[in-house]
Amino acid sequence: MIKTPRATLGLILLALTLTLSLLVSLPLAVQAADNPPALPTDFALHSESITLPSNFDPFPEGPGAEAMNRNCLTCHSASMVLYQPKLSEAQWEGIVDKMVDIFKAPLIPDDRDAILDYLTSFQKAE
Ligand code: HEC
Repeated sequence: MIKTPRATLGLILLALTLTLSLLVSLPLAVQAADNPPALPTDFALHSESITLPSNFDPFPEGPGAEAMNRNCLTCHSASMVLYQPKLSEAQWEGIVDKMVDIFKAPLIPDDRDAILDYLTSFQKAE
């Protein structure tokens, strides 16, 4: 397959280069495995206690707050609802529909109006 002397020379050079690089790197690798770098010892571990903000608060009181607590705290916090940008009535209705249709929120049908009233009024009060 290899006919020209130039190709043969090239192959010999390649083999030599590979052998040389192996000869150089192998002892280095063995040395690294025998002498792992020293770990720092000038530190101490200690525990800290922190208080996270509570995320279990019910909805702020107001007309419909009980309906919100009954229907909207099963899967996420009130803050998920309270910290939304200002939304229109139609957008809030779309979100409630999404909770029911997509996320399967078991909404109590009689609570729906109170929920929508709450959602469309709590941002006006801000
Ligand atoms: C069955 C579970 C479930 C219930 C009950 C539920 N949600 Fe959600 N809600 C979700 C999930 C899942 C998300 C998406 C969370 C995420 O994106 O990380 C979400 C997100 C939201 C968001 C963020 C904006 C958005 O569109 O994703 C709002 C606002 C919201 N819910 C409002 C409500 C309201 C109001 C109620 C009560 C009527 C309610 N949720 C009840 C599951 C639920």
